[in-house]
Amino acid sequence: MADATVDTVTTVPVAIVGAGPAGLMLAHRLGRAGVETIALDTRTRHEIETTQRAGILEADVARDLVETGVSDRILRDGHEHEGVELRFGGRAHRIDFKDLVGESVWLYPQTDVFVDLADARERDGGTVHFGIKDTEVLDITTGSPRVRYTAPDGTRHEIRARYVVGADGSRSMCRGLVPEDRRVRFTKEYPFAWFGILTEAPMSAPELIYAHSEHGFALISRRSETVQRMYFQCDPDESVDAWPDDRVWETFQARVAGEDGFRLREGPIIEKTVLKFRSFVQEPMRWGSMALAGDAAHTVPPTGARGLNLALHDVKVLAEVLARALGSDGDAALDDYQPRALRRVWRAQNFSYWITQLLHTAPGSEPFDLQRQLGELDNVVGTRAGRTYLAEQYTGWPTRARA
Ligand code: DHB
Repeated sequence: MADATVDTVTTVPVAIVGAGPAGLMLAHRLGRAGVETIALDTRTRHEIETTQRAGILEADVARDLVETGVSDRILRDGHEHEGVELRFGGRAHRIDFKDLVGESVWLYPQTDVFVDLADARERDGGTVHFGIKDTEVLDITTGSPRVRYTAPDGTRHEIRARYVVGADGSRSMCRGLVPEDRRVRFTKEYPFAWFGILTEAPMSAPELIYAHSEHGFALISRRSETVQRMYFQCDPDESVDAWPDDRVWETFQARVAGEDGFRLREGPIIEKTVLKFRSFVQEPMRWGSMALAGDAAHTVPPTGARGLNLALHDVKVLAEVLARALGSDGDAALDDYQPRALRRVWRAQNFSYWITQLLHTAPGSEPFDLQRQLGELDNVVGTRAGRTYLAEQYTGWPTRARA
């Protein structure tokens, strides 16, 4: 029954604020457990599909997409990578994940993960509303929270739920609903950003290259046979207007140059963006009838591509816990969420921070800092323990066999 201030009222066990990969994967997993959801997003589907994000999935995440029935497109369009290259001191050093830890990662852009999930929701009859606005989340400290929003046609709607999940990204509105005196925010800012490009050029190397140089960091990734994704470390206040293609290519080439004569294959640059980043965690990840998942609760610097993997781990735990909470276990099941999710969050925070400081040049760094970094890089690639550490962290921590 509609009340005076809204056009419709719908009742559903779980309302999900945010329909990016975290929100949609949660909806998908809950759907498989027989729990109905409504997911909402202020962005249009087109906006989410066309915003470039990271491109590396842990093997467990890739397997889950296939085995939970989202899609097996990753097996055709994705690429399994059994290692990465670290370049420093002008030389290439391969880290062989398969040999070191028996694992691999998949190159499969986040935008494709999102498309697969949005298609799977449509196929399975799930409800997702994109392009909504004026989201309000009410009564989260009660057992009957509500979400109100305005649809693209201007009509106003209310969802009555048992639980609300805030999967609304790094600028989360939901996390602000945890009272200020009951939450802790852990933050680390970095004195640099990434300049990201998409270029219509052939591949320069079969695997990803993480390059350290005296001029700063560069990362060579890819999107397809004909489109490549690359990043270089820049100033946080950098403007893309100051970077004609020639200057971008000169910067990349200087950062990967070495005695082996390696050069990137160049082409027209079709997108340029400056990406700012920080490390962030908000605790608690649950408040009353609301839980936070993915970037809403924590963000990591992009180096090492942990963000999406971490978000999908959150919702794996959360889907199981919510299904139990809605079954015979009741509210107490939710107490398991934060301890199980947070352990991985802090491991990933550490890895993302560690690999960022390992490869980037801080402004004002001294010759000592550069030489020490080269010493650390030599420890990483030059010892089996170092290589194994990197391989284990990069491929993710197994969720199946052991903790
Ligand atoms: C990509 C981004 C990353 O941050 C990373 O560590 C690896 C790959 C990418 O966009 O392809």
